Amino acid sequence: MKLLISFFTLTLAYNVRALDNGLARRPPMGWMSWQRFLCVVDCNLYPDDCISDTLFRQMADRMSEDGYLEAGYEYLVIDDCWMATKRDEQGKLQPDLIRFPYGMKNLSDYVHSKGLKFGMYQAVGRKTCAGYPGSKGHLEIDANTFAEWDVDYIKMDGCSARKYEYKKAYTDFGKFLNNTGRPIVYSCSWPAYLEIPGIHANYTYLAEICNLWRNWADIEDSYESLTAIIDWFSKNRNRFINSAGPGNWNDPDMLLIGNYGLSIEQSKSQMALWAIMAAPLLMSVDFRTIDQRSKDILLNKEAIAINQDKLGLQGRWLKKTDSIDIWVRQIAPVVNGEYTYAVAFHSRREDGFPFALRVALDEISLSNSIEYFVTDIFEPTNFNRTVNVAEEILVRVKPSGVVFLKFVPQGI
Ligand SMILES: *[C@@H]1O[C@H](CO)[C@@H](O)[C@H](O)[C@H]1NC(C)=O
Ligand SMILES: *[C@@H]1O[C@H](CO)[C@@H](O)[C@H](O)[C@H]1NC(C)=O
Ligand SMILES: *[C@@H]1O[C@H](CO)[C@@H](O)[C@H](O)[C@H]1NC(C)=O
Ligand SMILES: *[C@@H]1O[C@H](CO)[C@@H](O)[C@H](O)[C@H]1NC(C)=O
Repeated sequence: MKLLISFFTLTLAYNVRALDNGLARRPPMGWMSWQRFLCVVDCNLYPDDCISDTLFRQMADRMSEDGYLEAGYEYLVIDDCWMATKRDEQGKLQPDLIRFPYGMKNLSDYVHSKGLKFGMYQAVGRKTCAGYPGSKGHLEIDANTFAEWDVDYIKMDGCSARKYEYKKAYTDFGKFLNNTGRPIVYSCSWPAYLEIPGIHANYTYLAEICNLWRNWADIEDSYESLTAIIDWFSKNRNRFINSAGPGNWNDPDMLLIGNYGLSIEQSKSQMALWAIMAAPLLMSVDFRTIDQRSKDILLNKEAIAINQDKLGLQGRWLKKTDSIDIWVRQIAPVVNGEYTYAVAFHSRREDGFPFALRVALDEISLSNSIEYFVTDIFEPTNFNRTVNVAEEILVRVKPSGVVFLKFVPQGI
């Protein structure tokens, strides 16, 4: 018990020197094209899905009109495959002019006219991951081009570069972005290129130059991919959770919710764990066809509020009991010196029945207040009452699903 409390105290020591561009004070929220639309460039075969001006305008419309923007999702980010295969005569990046016939500034203006912010993608190496012109040798001109297009967020990938080149390239690009004078959220994929082959990234340094960073493997549309990421983040947590805080975030990658690979219960699991991990909430879904239940999960106000908690303390995996993983995050309000807690019970069971788990509050690090008011984020009628610390609570967790609770201290 004492050990747990001192673990949590450590989390307050984050961000000694951190990137100071005033941005991403809460985990960025938005939509990114990659997971759902990948690099579909054949608009004859896939007219509705290809990476094009039309796709992004349609997504901008839906995002601003269907409640996503209102819920806090503000960045619309174009991932790879927007470019022409060559730079222009001045060495500037240019879009594929068949798929983006009006140019990027025009699309940027459209996205802004919908009240959204506009994000784009590039890579520090010779080529992007899909083989389009990368920024190597062009970092400054590319930073200036993005600023001219009124870009608000850059995802900087790391394909086709050598490991020793990353530090200078990511540092320099950050300086060039700063020199433009335009506030641009800076997402760095650098650590993924180290951690995947087993090299530890320096997260203290990343927090000095980037607003967020992709720690590990790309997410793919399956529960297996999701759980591999969750397990990596829980196993390696002590190396990076203290680097998270207002302005800096660990990024376990996009939300799969609303696509093909996750059940509804698994979708709730991703939403809950991304909230606990203070992860960027970057949807990657087709808003034109999303089902209502998935949409409700993405728009769940309580889950979003926990993700966006102003203290910015990243939560952690605490323990496994009966094959239920228990995750805990400290959030506001702080009452008489005691935090509010968000707790996720994520079932790793496959045995087909909502498993009944009895837990005493002090087993999940809640013991500093006499009473907590407990609410259930996804099933509000399930828990909505005061619980005494001496009590055990009963949670029923569906296979691969989650029970996501909030505990507000009721005074000492
Ligand atoms: C974008 O380009 C189209 C076609 O040239 C033009 O009609 C429209 O006004 C432009 N939109 C903006 C926001 O500049
Ligand atoms: C550039 O960096 C300085 C010093 O960290 C900071 O005060 C300023 O807000 C940054 N400007 C932009 C546009 O990022
Ligand atoms: C990590 O980066 C920090 C900040 O720049 C630096 O002080 C520290 O020495 C680095 N650690 C390692 C192991 O290189
Ligand atoms: C939960 O309880 C509070 C007060 O105790 C009440 O105002 C609220 O309507 C309840 N919510 C639900 C979903 O039952």
